[in-house]
Amino acid sequence: MSTASAAGTDGNQRKVFIKTYGCQMNVYDSQRMGEVLGGRGYAVTDTAYGADLVILNTCHIREKAAEKVYSELGRLRLMKDQAGGAMKIAVAGCVAQAEGEEIVRRAPVVDLVFGPQTYHRLPELLDEQAETGSAVVETEFPADEKFDALDAPAGAKMLKRGVAAFLTVQEGCDKFCTFCVVPYTRGAEFSRPAQRIVAEARQLVDAGVREITLLGQNVNGWHGEGLDGGSWTLGHLLDELSAIDGLERLRYTTSHPRDMDDALIAAHGSNPKVMPYLHLPVQSGSDRILKAMNRKHTARSYNDLVARIRAARPDIAMSSDFIVGFPGETDDDFEATMQLVRGVTYAQAFSFKYSPRPGTPAAGHYGQVPEDVKSDRLARLQALLGAQQADFNNACVGRTLDVLLEKPGRKAGQLVGRSPYLQSVFLEAGHRSIGETVRVEITGTGPNSLTGHMVDA
Ligand code: 5AD
Ligand code: SF4
Repeated sequence: MSTASAAGTDGNQRKVFIKTYGCQMNVYDSQRMGEVLGGRGYAVTDTAYGADLVILNTCHIREKAAEKVYSELGRLRLMKDQAGGAMKIAVAGCVAQAEGEEIVRRAPVVDLVFGPQTYHRLPELLDEQAETGSAVVETEFPADEKFDALDAPAGAKMLKRGVAAFLTVQEGCDKFCTFCVVPYTRGAEFSRPAQRIVAEARQLVDAGVREITLLGQNVNGWHGEGLDGGSWTLGHLLDELSAIDGLERLRYTTSHPRDMDDALIAAHGSNPKVMPYLHLPVQSGSDRILKAMNRKHTARSYNDLVARIRAARPDIAMSSDFIVGFPGETDDDFEATMQLVRGVTYAQAFSFKYSPRPGTPAAGHYGQVPEDVKSDRLARLQALLGAQQADFNNACVGRTLDVLLEKPGRKAGQLVGRSPYLQSVFLEAGHRSIGETVRVEITGTGPNSLTGHMVDA
């Protein structure tokens, strides 16, 4: 097989621009794609101009997210024309998985379409495209094969991750919420072996990473053979990872309420490296709607769960996803969601208008909610969630928090880091540098951040 794609004809290194849409898992996948291509002589660049290859790593979760891809392809078509056709264009991720051939029909400018399970084969697919000169579409589903084929990148081969990095430990979903495309685009639940995860985490820490966020569509459904041969769930894995010297913080996202087991809840109380922040989507506060969504929990079981988590870690900051305007949602159902939010109190949240997704059961349900009703409910929910977030941030003023310094701030001499509760904190860092954790007294709040000054500097 030809390796012509390894280097440009003029001897210069080829450039790849990867544009990422959607969730953190796509961010992780884009980094891994960059590393796979790095092994074939491509350097990652931060603009499509002058790139030999542009990859759109796409999201299919809501209609708007999917449509963005086609408008971006329109812009890229002009750029490709200007480059005399030399630029290759690839569509990856969940839109690629869901729409496959349809993408090439709708946007013939596309040279390559590949799903989230096949990016380890990227070099071969590019070669195949170069040899045949026609578009290649690859949407097979061998989840285990992908992770087997991807070595944990080490040393120079690893793309720069910064201080806080993502690490995918679980992929796919068997829950089949009736609104969601994920079970179709990402496939069945699959957990990576503990040994591979620990090896990758060590390599990240060796490269300067201090905080790791474990990723999965149902990350708390992670399970597998542990290093001791026993059967582990996520709580065990967190405990094993926390033994890595130099790793200071662990987070995980996204969790399903059904998979929060006792060991994981206990880890929040007993493992100081597990940060006091939990994204635990509830979607709705109405049992009728939760049932229609096939969520497999009720408002009450969710509230009880939050109470157990708070008993283990009283200061935990809760976060969630919400959908308003699911088919059949009445004013009373929506009121139940508002009631749940008032009861739980969230430090942070994401909320969306229901978007019917082709192929999902709810898209065909009776009682689709009119757009203006959805907009009105979303505005009311977001006002409540925004007020709770502001209250949470204001309550931090006067407290002293550990802040992991991540990057330069807006002003000279300023750095920005993260609190344990995932808030951005701006401060004058003096001689302290990125990667260090400092004690910061919080003195003020901005719309999405905190400000403070170091104590014991
Ligand atoms: N419409 C609106 N929001 C959705 N989500 C998933 N599918 C849809 C949809 N069809 C939201 C859920 C999920 C988050 C990632 O996106 O809240 O938790
Ligand atoms: Fe989608 Fe539900 Fe699976 Fe989450 S749990 S990925 S919302 S189907």
